[in-house]
Amino acid sequence: MRVAVLFGGRSGEHEVSLNSAANVMAALAMLPEKYEIAPIGIDREGNWLLSAEAHQLLSQGQPLGGYEPSRALNAIGPSSVRPVDVVFPVLHGPYGEDGSLQGFLEMAGLPYVGCGVLGSALAMDKVMSKRVLRDQGLPITDYVWFRSAEWSPLVRDDVEEVCGYPCFVKPANLGSSVGVSKAHNAAELETAVQTAARFDTKIVAERAVPDAREIEVAVLGNDDPQASVPGEIVPSREFYDYAAKYVDGTSELLIPAQLPLDLAEEIRRLALKSFQALDCSGMARVDFLLSRASGDLYLNELNTIPGFTAISMYPKLWEASGLPAEKLVDRLIQLALERHAQRSGLSTASE
Ligand SMILES: Nc1ncnc2c1ncn2[C@@H]1O[C@H](COP(=O)(O)OP(=O)(O)O)[C@@H](O)[C@H]1O
Ligand SMILES: [Mg+2]
Repeated sequence: MRVAVLFGGRSGEHEVSLNSAANVMAALAMLPEKYEIAPIGIDREGNWLLSAEAHQLLSQGQPLGGYEPSRALNAIGPSSVRPVDVVFPVLHGPYGEDGSLQGFLEMAGLPYVGCGVLGSALAMDKVMSKRVLRDQGLPITDYVWFRSAEWSPLVRDDVEEVCGYPCFVKPANLGSSVGVSKAHNAAELETAVQTAARFDTKIVAERAVPDAREIEVAVLGNDDPQASVPGEIVPSREFYDYAAKYVDGTSELLIPAQLPLDLAEEIRRLALKSFQALDCSGMARVDFLLSRASGDLYLNELNTIPGFTAISMYPKLWEASGLPAEKLVDRLIQLALERHAQRSGLSTASE
């Protein structure tokens, strides 16, 4: 089976994706009798690169200038060396994790790993996901959202009233903590909004969970998803920002998280419920914030293409649950094929 592994992409998480993809490919390479890997790199301009060019990108080589949309179609279409059987997108953030690529693959009729169009789009947009999660009675923090162009003293008053200080300000559609800041006062809020506005026109401000523990659960499956044991991240900095995630490499992962048994079970139940609420399939990492102060638990976000780097929680949680990386990627591909077969079997007739 020929597996196209897609990585890089036009997002703030380009580098993280390269790192994740290298790990996914290493896992696939452990099953050489089953899988042939076709690496497809996407440079920062959006060009799809094959074989040697893809490898060059993976090793942080220079991207080519300019964007040629036809290269995307050629990469997976009939003119490639041999058509691919399944696509494994390892793209984090916009243009990869947000449903746009998934829609493109649906149109191309190709099975692909992970969530479909709706689940990807809902999970990517922090405003939309909060709405759906809240509708399902899942616990989320108080929040305010606005378009960056609407930012005004009036909106600031609203943020101060609903969220108070400290509060978190985030671009609605991104990940890896890019553009996320914690504001302790009005001046910092101003700067935080300017920062977030560099990455998205839609901005979310939310109440900070006091003294939060970061608990994460890995979910795997389609119609009958399974939840891993919860893990905990102990950030090396004030919060789990980009540097704590990828630069220092000193944030600690505790697997399993030290939690009372009933709380751990409740967290797994909520992880599955939110996976289903957002219409996810294949995989997602569900992130919680648990207040040390009050014991209150909040759902922070779902990541539909979680990090797969050597220090990433998603593969580590499954490893701890008895599924090593090569079995995990194998299962993900199987789930992609199952969902594709299921959808292909649906009637397209009008009666
Ligand atoms: N409401 C909050 N209360 C406390 N900490 C938060 C809150 N929101 C975000 N954080 C901190 O900021 C980090 C990044 O925020 P998150 O919403 O997960 O963005 P991203 O999608 O970029 O990962 C979280 O891992 C956590 O450390
Ligand atoms: Mg996060």
